[in-house]
Amino acid sequence: MPFPRLFEPLRLGDKITLRNRIVLPAHGPRISGDRYIRYLDERVKDIGLYLCSQPASSGVAAYSPGPPASLPPGHRVESDARLPDPASAEGKAFLDDLYLPFMRRQVEVGQRYGVACFGQVVHTGNYSFHTDWQVGISPSAVPDELLGETPHALTRSEIADVVATFANAAERVKAAGMAGVEVHCCHGLLLNAFLSPITNRRTDDYGGSPENRARLLREVVAAVRERVGPGLVVGVRIAGQDGIDGGLTTDDTAAALAPIVDQLDYLSVSASSEGGRKGGVTVPAIMSADYPEAVFEPSARKLRETLGLPVILSGRITQPATAERVLADGSADLVGIVRAMLADPTWPRKARDGEEDDIRLCTGNNECRYRTQLRVRAVTGPVACAVNAAAGREEEMDSVAPAVPKRVLVVGGGPGGLEAARVAALRGHTVTLCERDTQLGGQALIAGRDPRSAGLGRAVAQLERQVRKLDAVDVQLGREVGAADVAALAPEAVIVATGALPPPLPSPAAVSVIDVLRGEAKLGARVCIVAGMNGHRAPLALAAKLADERHDVHLVTERTIVGEDLDPGVNHTLLKLLYGRGVDLRNLTGLRSFEDGVAVLYNTLTRHESQLAVDSLVVATRGPANDALSVELQDAGLPMQAIGDCLAPRRLIHAILEGHRAALAV
Ligand SMILES: Cc1cc2nc3c(=O)[nH]c(=O)nc-3n(C[C@H](O)[C@H](O)[C@H](O)COP(=O)(O)OP(=O)(O)OC[C@H]3O[C@@H](n4cnc5c(N)ncnc54)[C@H](O)[C@@H]3O)c2cc1C
Ligand SMILES: Cc1cc2nc3c(=O)[nH]c(=O)nc-3n(C[C@H](O)[C@H](O)[C@H](O)COP(=O)(O)O)c2cc1C
Repeated sequence: MPFPRLFEPLRLGDKITLRNRIVLPAHGPRISGDRYIRYLDERVKDIGLYLCSQPASSGVAAYSPGPPASLPPGHRVESDARLPDPASAEGKAFLDDLYLPFMRRQVEVGQRYGVACFGQVVHTGNYSFHTDWQVGISPSAVPDELLGETPHALTRSEIADVVATFANAAERVKAAGMAGVEVHCCHGLLLNAFLSPITNRRTDDYGGSPENRARLLREVVAAVRERVGPGLVVGVRIAGQDGIDGGLTTDDTAAALAPIVDQLDYLSVSASSEGGRKGGVTVPAIMSADYPEAVFEPSARKLRETLGLPVILSGRITQPATAERVLADGSADLVGIVRAMLADPTWPRKARDGEEDDIRLCTGNNECRYRTQLRVRAVTGPVACAVNAAAGREEEMDSVAPAVPKRVLVVGGGPGGLEAARVAALRGHTVTLCERDTQLGGQALIAGRDPRSAGLGRAVAQLERQVRKLDAVDVQLGREVGAADVAALAPEAVIVATGALPPPLPSPAAVSVIDVLRGEAKLGARVCIVAGMNGHRAPLALAAKLADERHDVHLVTERTIVGEDLDPGVNHTLLKLLYGRGVDLRNLTGLRSFEDGVAVLYNTLTRHESQLAVDSLVVATRGPANDALSVELQDAGLPMQAIGDCLAPRRLIHAILEGHRAALAV
């Protein structure tokens, strides 16, 4: 076995034996019912432990002080309806009725495979569900870092309700048959906000000294332990450090936990706050691929050594080799893996069977979090993954063998075409994949030439490996396909995945981001990057690359902020880097012209013009759809599907999803 430590059993708290060291930590994928059960089923088969998370699994997050609006038991809960106070007897009974059946179903998934299930109890505090009209709550009225909402500072009697709510939720976890309860105290959420001197400015006995700030955590853990009794595993998910100026260090965290160690069976170590934009956070809680693997390892090791509790370490563990090393080095007893399991639910099996090269790796672009969490635009939706079209849509993507296998032509070997070819061949079709370039991978391959975006390159390299293993796919490189070629090949189905064209250039002196990444552009010292409406990663990553290469960089965007369409964790990392390198960032700014080393810029609102003297101008807007072939085929009445950027220039996640769906539709 290539990773023996990963597959060793572990006795936890002398209460339960986990069959291996792989944990699926809590993560709210915003899917429910059968869809969530299937999602779990795919992911828990080969692991040791999984955590079901808030709010549906316990009801803690339902606690929200405010105008009373209790609902009679049995009342149907609309997404924006208020639940009865979960700390009250009525609320407890109501939530029991509401949640227990589904919580039991979540436990049963693991029981089928002998895998343990714990329930995480969490109040999101200041990051509450504003979309459900709940007020954010916090120790003090310090605005949150994502939405800027000022929370309600809890009164002492409300704090008592919070404790009761956690205890009630823990009782529900036990009643559902879960083997353990995890108290959430990290990522800037309610209990963590009490610990931190930045968000806790109280002057009563829940604030001020470190002992006072840790009082609520102590009370919650004591109440939970008292309620569930000694037989259940109880753990805390803790921020090993805040990683911000004036925030908690690992020593502070250890001191807060020391008095309650006797009541705990394990620690789950993560770090940082959800927002993390203030105070120069070193690593956001759900960090992008800009950070090293197992980035919170030093905190985990220190807490494990200081407190003597078994530790789950999470945070950018994407490779089995990292997981094995973390265990071998004694930094942790278990590894928590979320996004890598979203990208490839068969990660544990492949690690066990020595097939780690076949693991579909997480790109760390945080599409999953961008879609599920309360973001700048206050929208949330079901989880999705850039590289795994089936994540959260397991049933939809169930492959059914076609009644009659067909000869399928896929035009374009970017991520969309590769996924379409892979899935069509797996279903039993015979596929010809034509790519006009001499390499597969399309724009993602080009983007991946920048080490900072290497995840994109890895994603298409992995797709190519899978396609090359399939005898049913005939890959033809250097083959540009026109309508006449399609007619000559006479396929029974055509999937057009011809992607996007390079962005149009405003002057012969300008170059595109693609020219730069291909190494085909020679840039002067002063460079202006034009992002236009592209609010995603490409303009920022390019600015970072050019700043690394010591160019004097100016980045102009027509959007309200640079990188507006990125998950905040990714965006703030890149922005921090750009500000740190002195890059000039200009919002709401477009380009009028570029001539003789002068870029004429304008403010998109006032139309006020300004001049910027630069040596080079790089266009990093999205290029137009390369749809000549798809339009011609459609006009000719041929049965074909256009997918990805040739349909509309967007991102990897769209190309892969549409490639997958198109292949299922053949
Ligand atoms: C610099 C840069 C950075 C980016 N960064 C990100 C990012 O961080 N995250 C993200 O999600 N997305 C990013 N994108 C966008 C992402 O790469 C694209 O959305 C994605 O590659 C689209 O996939 P596709 O398969 O539809 O098209 P493409 O990747 O464009 O592939 C199309 C392929 O078709 C081939 N082709 C075209 N016409 C023909 C023909 N007639 N016959 C045969 N072959 C043909 C092309 O050569 C190409 O290989 C970035 C793009 C760029 C340029
Ligand atoms: C979509 C999503 C939802 C999450 N929700 C929770 C949650 O409810 N509770 C929690 O403790 N952590 C949550 N997390 C954080 C993860 O548990 C984990 O700490 C983080 O993703 C880093 O691990 P990874 O690199 O393996 O993804 C969430 C993460 C993601 C991506």
